[in-house]
Amino acid sequence: MHDLLLQGGSVHDGLGAPARTADVAVRGDRVVAVGRDLGPARRSIDVTGHCVTPGFVDAHAHSDGVAFMSEPQPFKLLQGVTTEVVGNCGFSLAPLNDVAAAHAREAWGDLFPGFEPEPMSFANYIDKVTAAGPTNNIAPLVGHGTLRLCANGTRRELADGALDAMRDLANEAMAAGAAGLSSGLIYVPGTYADTDELVAVAAVAGRWGRPYTTHMRNEANHVVDSISEAVEIGRRAGCRVQISHCKVSGTANWGGADQMLAAIHRGRLDGVDVRGDQYPYMAGSTFLAALLPPDALEGGFDRIRAAAADPASLAALRDEFQPSTLWEPASPERTTIIGHLDGSLVGRTLADVAQERGQHAFVVLCQLVTDDPSAMIVVHLMDDTDVERLMADPLLGVGSDNGPPLGVQHPRTWGTFPWLLGEFVRRRGVLGIEQAVRKMTSATAAQFGLLHRGTLQPGAIADIAVFDPDTVDHAGTYAAPNASPTGIPWVVLGGEVVVDDGEFSGARSGRVLRPGLI
Ligand code: ZN
Ligand code: CU
Repeated sequence: MHDLLLQGGSVHDGLGAPARTADVAVRGDRVVAVGRDLGPARRSIDVTGHCVTPGFVDAHAHSDGVAFMSEPQPFKLLQGVTTEVVGNCGFSLAPLNDVAAAHAREAWGDLFPGFEPEPMSFANYIDKVTAAGPTNNIAPLVGHGTLRLCANGTRRELADGALDAMRDLANEAMAAGAAGLSSGLIYVPGTYADTDELVAVAAVAGRWGRPYTTHMRNEANHVVDSISEAVEIGRRAGCRVQISHCKVSGTANWGGADQMLAAIHRGRLDGVDVRGDQYPYMAGSTFLAALLPPDALEGGFDRIRAAAADPASLAALRDEFQPSTLWEPASPERTTIIGHLDGSLVGRTLADVAQERGQHAFVVLCQLVTDDPSAMIVVHLMDDTDVERLMADPLLGVGSDNGPPLGVQHPRTWGTFPWLLGEFVRRRGVLGIEQAVRKMTSATAAQFGLLHRGTLQPGAIADIAVFDPDTVDHAGTYAAPNASPTGIPWVVLGGEVVVDDGEFSGARSGRVLRPGLI
């Protein structure tokens, strides 16, 4: 007797093979058969007209703290996502020491409600998430930025012994089960690292056979150089490379997607297993502070704070330091504030606030970061054609780059997967459904060593998404992003039906996945 039978759907193996009409039988936490006349089951669901696919794997998430929220959060499960890779862009919630925890409290603000930054090892963090109970599985990366905060605070120059300390902490995290190493090379303090430092830390991931993921130094006019740096790190460190949220930023650089893809494919010809991920939108989202010159943030927010009180020194600040690589692509008109302690700013552009205050946008930027260092923005950075070109490439998986499921966030938080299927597969026909499913499942599971996940065949873990290809969609907008997806009625996590006829069961049945372990 099977536990669950999904009957009559169009079954995708997650590897890109043509879908076929079949039943899927589940026993315990496993898929045990795919075919016809599979025998009786305790529960049967008629899924005729629906696609039955492996549960989606979100290659790039920031849900590191979601399990600590007081209510169980269904925002990923409702998209069909059963596993998220978290700890991206160089920041993981662990390890933390006193110095790192103090900085985290200031820089992250309320991004992780229910999580109090305090000294902890990576193993402690995994235990805490497990105890809190995530609603879906997570595979946490350890962040280079977090390691650097622990070893060297927010200073640029590495103190004696700091690099060894980072490597030791990275090794500890890998031993505890980190899925890989991430970097965020536009953020403090990750941005202060040179290539050699990144090679040294990534080599630890390489020794464990785990990937290096990177939010690159420059996603705008130097995107190709940035890929070259990532490839060099992969080659010298001996690890696979995942280029995070692939994009070509800034109107002046639009049309550069083919060059970007060529650089990725060249890296593979040079012997480095380079892949990437992408979210299906023309806008990005990040910290407002990411627009500031990184060197002005050395040692924390004090310099910005002092300057914000004295406009004369602000001008000096602007001229003295190399601007952030985001400053130009994210012109003030294209930058919308989506999170700030002063709620009246939410939904307004930086240009708009600057005009109201009668001040230069850079001055206002410093004022707003001083008032709330963890303020968040949405930035309209990308071109439609570039996004489509990148999406058509089979090397890039899908990653939402979500924020917390709270307040106003980029709609990708609630809609990445259904939006890609509705907009880019059904309406625009940018890619076929088998390819889209492969990019959302096995492409990412393989990159992060998630054993028996990302495929749907006998023996696979029963993480399954069921969606209607004719109606799957997301109606969220930048102004009202948190709509529930449509057309994804059933989601199965480890054999348990956690979304049933569109309703979340409330279960906290997710786990922390460790690479190479089931
Ligand atoms: Zn990033
Ligand atoms: Cu990110």
